[in-house]
Amino acid sequence: MNLIERPREMQECSLKLRREGRRIGLVPTMGFLHEGHAALIRRARTLADWCVVSVFVNPTQFGPHEDFTAYPRDPQRDAELCRACGADALFRPAAADMYTADHSVYVDERDLSAGLCGAFRPGHFRGVLTVVAKLFNLVQPDVAVFGQKDAQQARLIQRLVRDLNFPVHVVIEPTVREPDGLALSSRNAYLNADERRRALSLSQALRRAEALVREGERDAERLKAAMRPILEAAAPTEIQYLEIVNYQTLRPTPQVAGPTLIAVAVKFGKTRLIDNVIVGR
Ligand code: PAJ
Repeated sequence: MNLIERPREMQECSLKLRREGRRIGLVPTMGFLHEGHAALIRRARTLADWCVVSVFVNPTQFGPHEDFTAYPRDPQRDAELCRACGADALFRPAAADMYTADHSVYVDERDLSAGLCGAFRPGHFRGVLTVVAKLFNLVQPDVAVFGQKDAQQARLIQRLVRDLNFPVHVVIEPTVREPDGLALSSRNAYLNADERRRALSLSQALRRAEALVREGERDAERLKAAMRPILEAAAPTEIQYLEIVNYQTLRPTPQVAGPTLIAVAVKFGKTRLIDNVIVGR
């Protein structure tokens, strides 16, 4: 596996491989990799013949009071996981090489980013879309793989590719969970034993909603009313949102009709956890 740290070198390498007709796959990450990331890497390998994993804790997607400096990092373990999953290259740029001091161009989305996480993390998706656009230009992927775990992010990247005409095929992979249902996340590392137990309430509430939809319930208010007590019983520090939105528009829908995203964001102490399911497809 190649370790590439310089953006310029990354781009030259990719441009050369593309000229040779190679199909490049990209899995963008912020590191502290887990089985969720591993599933994306394995999927990318089946879709491309040269697979790049990027590890970059992107400063522009963190708010001033968020966990940028505390974000967990383990470069050696990340490299081992990438190698074990069969990645061909690990792209690990330094922040100073990705953003010059006078960096001034950003990608701003005005529709899908307004609600859900966007409402609680101003500027977050601007940072995400900016860095993903940069990564697309540096890695020149034919295909890029993202996780359903971050459903709004995945929809925004589809919109980025459509609206700015990136020649990239976006693939979205299902959420990988612990055996008890907790969605894997690098931020789970922040949870103490008690919070870890209470964090199960997210997947439990979502499973309850899924079961009700299977039984024929379509009314969003009734679904939310069934979920809320499950979340509240875990005594979270804050329920940021519990939303049922149309998967295409990400706007609240009164009824489950067609692909519908049920999404939650909950804080335990300072740790913010998100999870979701898609129903009605
Ligand atoms: P990060 O949180 O490291 O996630 C990298 C990718 O892994 C994302 O596409 C995310 O949706 C996916 N992922 C995370 N947990 C997952 C799980 N349990 N199952 C399946 N996929 C999972 O998302 C980011 O980084 C950043 O915002 C990034 C896109 C890299 C831009 O900086």
